[in-house]
Amino acid sequence: MKTIIAPSILSADFAHLAEELKKVTDAGAEYIHIDVMDGSFVPEITIGAPVVKSLRKTSQAVFDVHLMVEHPETQIKSFADAGADIITFHVEAAKHPHRIIQQIHELGCKAGVALNPGTSLSMVEELVEDSDMILIMTVNPGYAGQKFIDSMLGKIHMLYHMIEEMETECDIQVDGGINAETSVLVREAGANILVAGSAIFGAADVAQAIKDIRGKEIHHHHHHHED
Ligand code: DX5
Ligand code: ZN
Repeated sequence: MKTIIAPSILSADFAHLAEELKKVTDAGAEYIHIDVMDGSFVPEITIGAPVVKSLRKTSQAVFDVHLMVEHPETQIKSFADAGADIITFHVEAAKHPHRIIQQIHELGCKAGVALNPGTSLSMVEELVEDSDMILIMTVNPGYAGQKFIDSMLGKIHMLYHMIEEMETECDIQVDGGINAETSVLVREAGANILVAGSAIFGAADVAQAIKDIRGKEIHHHHHHHED
């Protein structure tokens, strides 16, 4: 499975966002991960749809919007209109998560569902089939530069098997504390879309950092059920 790299602009220089986006896409990143925080679901406030709309004019990259907000259903249309390609909301913030997936799809975007480290996989079991991506948070959302939580590896692996058993297709994204070392662990566990903030924007050589995080291709052994 090919690994997709999604630099998180939370660690970029907000005074020069367009140049920062160009820097990481020129360096080989496929997605741009946009962290939207509302000061309520998480303590800080970052950026909203107007910023995404302006950035859209400067970049062809896949815009991967991570909504860390309460009442995500009220925000979907603004971000879709602003040019988001993928919209991910937190299952903890959603009363009707399946309806939000439908809403995202109706607006022509891919739908992702995110889980905090303390949230059980069972919360998304019935959503996997209709989602394009599940985001397993490997830190508690809110800040860049936190330490990767090792105990999330089992959860990633369980999700990988869940998707395989359902014989469906769904990307597994990880976000938080991803660097060249933790990348190997999450890719072995089954993740295929890797978000990284500080490890990419904090690097002297961004292209090298992306290459190191992407690593060597991992071949998973698929289990065939022949009974
Ligand atoms: C955390 C955000 C992440 C964050 C990742 O709340 O969702 O996307 O920017 O930053 P690093 O890679 O530095 O942990
Ligand atoms: Zn994020």
